[in-house]
Amino acid sequence: MRVLVVGSGGREHALCWAIGASPLCTALFAAPGNAGIAREATLVPIEADDLDGLVAFARRERIDFVVVGPEAPLVAGLADQLRAAGIKTFGPSAAAARLEGSKAFTKDICDRYGIPTAGYRRFSDHGEAVAHVRAQGAPIVVKADGLTAGKGVTVAMTERDALAAIDEALLGGRFGAAGTELVIEDYLEGEEVSFFALVDGKTILPLAAAQDHKRVGDGDTGPNTGGMGAYSPTPAMTPALEQEVMARIVEPIVRAMAAEGSPFTGVLYAGLMLTKTGPQLVEINVRFGDPECQVLMARLRSDPLPAFIAAADGVLDRFDLRWSPEAALTVVMASKGYPGAYGKGSAIAGLDRAAAVPGVTIFHAATKAEAGRVLAVGGRVLGVTALGADIAEARARAYAAVDLIDWPAGFCRRDIAAGALEPR
Ligand code: AMP
Ligand code: GLY
Repeated sequence: MRVLVVGSGGREHALCWAIGASPLCTALFAAPGNAGIAREATLVPIEADDLDGLVAFARRERIDFVVVGPEAPLVAGLADQLRAAGIKTFGPSAAAARLEGSKAFTKDICDRYGIPTAGYRRFSDHGEAVAHVRAQGAPIVVKADGLTAGKGVTVAMTERDALAAIDEALLGGRFGAAGTELVIEDYLEGEEVSFFALVDGKTILPLAAAQDHKRVGDGDTGPNTGGMGAYSPTPAMTPALEQEVMARIVEPIVRAMAAEGSPFTGVLYAGLMLTKTGPQLVEINVRFGDPECQVLMARLRSDPLPAFIAAADGVLDRFDLRWSPEAALTVVMASKGYPGAYGKGSAIAGLDRAAAVPGVTIFHAATKAEAGRVLAVGGRVLGVTALGADIAEARARAYAAVDLIDWPAGFCRRDIAAGALEPR
């Protein structure tokens, strides 16, 4: 099969690394990819949001199967366009991708189908939103409805912060059309876990759970990021809890989407809060998480390509996947300044030495190759990923590799998986 992976992050590097190893894959392309992905795939200089360009390339190159990494092209309808062109695609239709593209859509689904999630109301009127926050008080959570690359959520610990978030979105136009409607919801307290499953429209094949680290600083301090590290499995997700999450959250959502005429295919990523009263849905994403995808691909023993194809073909019921009993852990190395402003173009050395640490694979998230050097060209730049007998060993190996990487313009959190290793 000739396979195209769309995207350029650590997620897409991990996907290319796993798909490229499949005996089914005879040619692998990545659009646009990065310097690390270039080792696994032929890079194609087409951006992930250039839907027409991607479809034209897939037709011209007789691509048999497309795996779409990021959410924005899915929400914009890339999977629909590819399927209309007769090209098999892993990823949901635009109608099903509303689960990520509109927080209000997902909250309404939860409401109609009795899926546990924080109480909420939708607002497009500034005065009504302000009155609601004044009546409810803090803490309270203000969310832009649409896609904002993770920047649209304000967990407001004070009424003032909540009102400022409302002003920015509804008066200041901070998120453009994505923020002309807000979801304002109750604050949930608990541990956060990401749960992943392949879905073919009706059958659900659970993958595994992972834990992400969203704040930029050690001890979960500082601003939110796309994710500074991850590990899997996570002790918080017991088999009993996984059953409960499947029965009360994932299965009802998949049934609801089918009943609404927008069956979901692809990978469903449920962001969960483990509260005192049980798991609650925080958000749905319609693609793999990054860095979570890196730890999942590291632990996956089966070939993922036939499973992705089965999800696209509606035959997941014949599938089973094998997982390594080992633990995997990713430390994200980012450009100093991220998630704020950061410099671009700094050189990274020592990657081969670091990759030689036992159990370690280095996924690239934002790099380019120039004159034989690897340059950082984004915020999150590398995902240093390690397998180990347990989380402690995976963590020791990942940090041993991090310490061999010579990149003065980069930084990482030093406490990935601390919560799983040290009793609170
Ligand atoms: P989301 O994009 O909806 O996942 O929100 C981003 C982050 O904000 C989540 O990962 C949580 O850490 C936090 N968050 C979102 N909703 C809530 C909530 N209702 N209560 C507490 N924290 C939340
Ligand atoms: N790591 C969180 C995300 O991919 O959305």
